[in-house]
Amino acid sequence: MNEYDSARLASILEFNGASPALMPEKADIILVNTCSVRAKAEENAITRIKNLKKLKIENKGLKIGVLGCMAKNRGESLLKDLPFLDFILPPDEYQKLPEILFQKDFAPQTPFAKLTNKYSAFIAIQSGCNMRCAYCIVPYVRGREQYREPSSILKEIEAATAEGVSEIVLLGQTVNGYRYKGLSFAELLKQVASIREVERIRFISPHPAHYTSELLDVLMSEQKIAPHVHLPAQSGSNSVLKKMKRQYTREAYLSIVESLRSFNPLYGITTDIICGYPSETEEEFEETLSLLQEARFDSAFMFAYSPREGTPSASEMELITEEEKKSRLQRVIDLQNSITLERAKLMLGRQERILLEKPSRRNSGEWVGKTGNFKKIILPAQPDFKEGMYVECVIEGVKGHTLRGKIAYICTSEHFMLNYRENS
Ligand code: 5AD
Ligand code: SF4
Repeated sequence: MNEYDSARLASILEFNGASPALMPEKADIILVNTCSVRAKAEENAITRIKNLKKLKIENKGLKIGVLGCMAKNRGESLLKDLPFLDFILPPDEYQKLPEILFQKDFAPQTPFAKLTNKYSAFIAIQSGCNMRCAYCIVPYVRGREQYREPSSILKEIEAATAEGVSEIVLLGQTVNGYRYKGLSFAELLKQVASIREVERIRFISPHPAHYTSELLDVLMSEQKIAPHVHLPAQSGSNSVLKKMKRQYTREAYLSIVESLRSFNPLYGITTDIICGYPSETEEEFEETLSLLQEARFDSAFMFAYSPREGTPSASEMELITEEEKKSRLQRVIDLQNSITLERAKLMLGRQERILLEKPSRRNSGEWVGKTGNFKKIILPAQPDFKEGMYVECVIEGVKGHTLRGKIAYICTSEHFMLNYRENS
């Protein structure tokens, strides 16, 4: 969501005549987009912001603004703590940016969010969150759920495809809870898939409680929807899930996993896990380990619980020491690493359609791409490689958690054109 916001903010700046500076020292405007989800994210942002102070001494005209969730969460106290800042702007006030910076009171209606690549676009369809998980600050800083009108979503997608985008990533805090006047998320997905130029569809982040059978049917029948879901589990223990107010049970969660994997054993399923929730017992924690064993996630984001002021769980007594929290986190990471590797190895020998992303930074003779099930793959470079091109490749190896492949053939966006089979 922050990446999308940053891209949208960049579009607003460009629309008003600004252009990207080559380095911070050359900039007249520096905006720092921030995240508040864990204490660490805020601490990192504060360090980065403090480092900008010296630029202000060298360039008196420089304007520095702090945007994003921390601007909402810390509010005016940020200006007091960091007096060299010119302004703060929370996510629900971004429309004020042109006025603050350029003394203009308008922004483009739906600025096209340009990402760092040209072939993939984030399209926000929903903002805010109504879920109120007991540990989470997002509903406080992002507000209630709001859904965007389908016609405006489809128009933005068409504008993106006209500029060469072929992969669409629908975005929302609980994206599969989207609805608009009787139109469900599943139906919206079908409409997006019916746009001819759209080749691959992804969506982040769904909530397990919103996986209706209608949605599962669409995921399994629509060829353009990439076989990957991010499905934040948080815990494998029913008692912890209840305290977290997650609104599903371990069994309901695993039945979604089971549906997707019985449809396609290689379906990519990734997750988020929180370790050391205030009263989590060793037994409850072990249920999270056993969830990882059962669900066999392709990868996971794993976090130590971080109390966020103002959330219900922050007032619960923390019964776990920081040391124990860290040790649980490490146990989860170790187990998941072995499962991630095992899942990667299942890809060996397969022929897969890869979206080429960029030349490898480490080795100029290699390119980086993604499989449909969202695995990173390294391929030997070919002279005709271009960002956003689809190629068919055979997976030959796994290094770390990254796949290695060789090209079977290159395809243009619609038809296979060149046959690159070995020796042909
Ligand atoms: N502590 C630790 N992790 C958190 N997350 C959200 N709030 C917290 C918190 N207070 C994690 C969840 C969520 C991801 C975006 O961040 O796993 O899915
Ligand atoms: Fe936070 Fe829960 Fe909403 Fe996700 S669903 S943003 S974890 S409150």
